[in-house]
Amino acid sequence: MIPREIIEEIKYRCDISDVIGQYVNLKRAGSNLVGLCPFHNERTPSFTVFLSNGSFYCFGCGAGGDVITFMMKMDGYTYIEAVEALAKRCGVAIPKETSGKYRKPDEVSRDRVLAMNLDAAKFFREQLKANQAPMDYLLNRRYSPALIRRFGLGYAPNDFGALTGHMLGLGYNAKELSTAFLCGISKKTGKPYDYFRGRIIIPIIDTKKDVIAFGGRVIDNSLPKYLNTSDTPAFKKSRSLFALNYAKASCAEEMILCEGYMDVMALHDAGFTNAVATLGTAITNEHARMMKRYTKKVLIAFDVDEAGQRAADKAFRLFDEVGLEARVVRVRDAKDPDEYIHKFGPERFRMLLNEGSSRFDFQTENILKQYDINDPQQKIAALREITSVIASVYSSVERDMYMHKISEQLSVQYESLKNDVRNVVRRNRKKADENETNRIHLAAAGFGGRNMREKLNTLTSSSSEEAVLGMLLRYPEFAELVRSGKVSLDSDDFSTELGKRLYELIIEKCSGGEKPENLLNEFFSPDEIGLITGIAVSREKLTNTEAIFRDCVSNLKNRKEGEDSGDASSISDINDLINRKRQDIENNREE
Ligand code: CTP
Ligand code: MN
Repeated sequence: MIPREIIEEIKYRCDISDVIGQYVNLKRAGSNLVGLCPFHNERTPSFTVFLSNGSFYCFGCGAGGDVITFMMKMDGYTYIEAVEALAKRCGVAIPKETSGKYRKPDEVSRDRVLAMNLDAAKFFREQLKANQAPMDYLLNRRYSPALIRRFGLGYAPNDFGALTGHMLGLGYNAKELSTAFLCGISKKTGKPYDYFRGRIIIPIIDTKKDVIAFGGRVIDNSLPKYLNTSDTPAFKKSRSLFALNYAKASCAEEMILCEGYMDVMALHDAGFTNAVATLGTAITNEHARMMKRYTKKVLIAFDVDEAGQRAADKAFRLFDEVGLEARVVRVRDAKDPDEYIHKFGPERFRMLLNEGSSRFDFQTENILKQYDINDPQQKIAALREITSVIASVYSSVERDMYMHKISEQLSVQYESLKNDVRNVVRRNRKKADENETNRIHLAAAGFGGRNMREKLNTLTSSSSEEAVLGMLLRYPEFAELVRSGKVSLDSDDFSTELGKRLYELIIEKCSGGEKPENLLNEFFSPDEIGLITGIAVSREKLTNTEAIFRDCVSNLKNRKEGEDSGDASSISDINDLINRKRQDIENNREE
């Protein structure tokens, strides 16, 4: 593992508020900073950065840790990658020759996958030059030679060993190739074989110009139409966008979001270089948050079929949740943007872009399509749906605009529409508050996390367990009491697996005076670190004397002997959190 003093140097030099500040708009709140959590969607800030000890914690979703954990969660880095990225940022050198040793011997690194991908991309490109059929296919679909070059398109021969043979020859082994999703391993023979066969290959290139993955399309009607790289150490599809490497230069104002690779390439070829697509997956809120960093406005240009329209509905919701403006582009007389642009040309497509509908218009049009509003009964039903759409809009100014618009459009009284909307808004808020309270309740009790599922069976002990762990984490003197035997405690006294491991880390690994929070990333997952940070954070607001520590330890041990003892301090933690959140909600509520 990377030497502790280097980790500490990096953490000292990389100010957590600067690093997080690049992703989250942070505001001062007392001695801490708060902002909207980048790991879940929220309107009121629960995400807190504690400057005193360089940690962060979200009271809403329970994410937490130090600056390294943040990078792991935010950019999908492994521990090593996060440390390396931060080291680079602050100019701390990690001894090169030892760097390889940090990795588990059988782990394939991100860099290794990227190197394989680059070699594979070159191979595929050569194959496209050597094969007429795939080239004809592309030219028939009117993809220009310039475009084929620009996107580095390639071809995977219809052969089980072409790429694999080439790559083995370059010195990569079968395990590495299968980790990169370039080959599969035959169950029968244990031998590697090419994953992509007889397909046009579309390299996915990220904004740092690395080839992170591939999409492969058949050149006939066989199925599946596409094969895509699954997640690898270099690729997470839930946070990657096709063609962002090119689009990022021209998407600051507007970005076009398509469903397919072919749509994006056709648009780029026609001069719309701000087009991107998700990669064989529906848009996620990670995508939405990421797009928000690149653009002010998204133009959704999905397929006209029903699936495309449903996907547009979802995309709108996600953009709305992250506060990113969006419009939907209605492609007409063609099934998708690719076909449209080849049929009608770029000028017509430009006009479509300019006529994009807002989320509200999109939703109301879809509702009105289903009803005959000349029939009073149907009109009422349509209005009921529209009322609930308006009520779901967050801003009251916006709601008011929509109510005016609808009352005019459907000739209904503005005042009565307003009454109906207000009732639905009230009902929704009440429900939302109840859900929020429940969620915090559960999160505070640790049920939100997968890791503490055992708690459901051992409720009372786990609250003393958290109290003990919280104090051990924050107060080295209590850990010393345990190490010296003045307080008797053992990992078996803990009822959760996470508790046992954390206890062992604090008592054994920190006996030389290391701070437990500096070791967490090495031994726990980011999710677990969130829970651990939560335990430490909630302990800080409480009294932490030696007497209380001893009390909690004996509670923990008593429980082991079958005695149930309630735990007031932990309940008060939970209530604290709930009251705090309620206050937040009240303070931020507009009416
Ligand atoms: N997709 C996939 N696997 C499939 C079908 C589709 O991963 N079996 C993904 C691909 O990323 C594709 C996108 O969904 O680009 C949209 O699908 P579709 O509209 O069928 O693809 P197009 O890119 O429009 O391809 P084409 O025009 O060649 O049909
Ligand atoms: Mn298509």
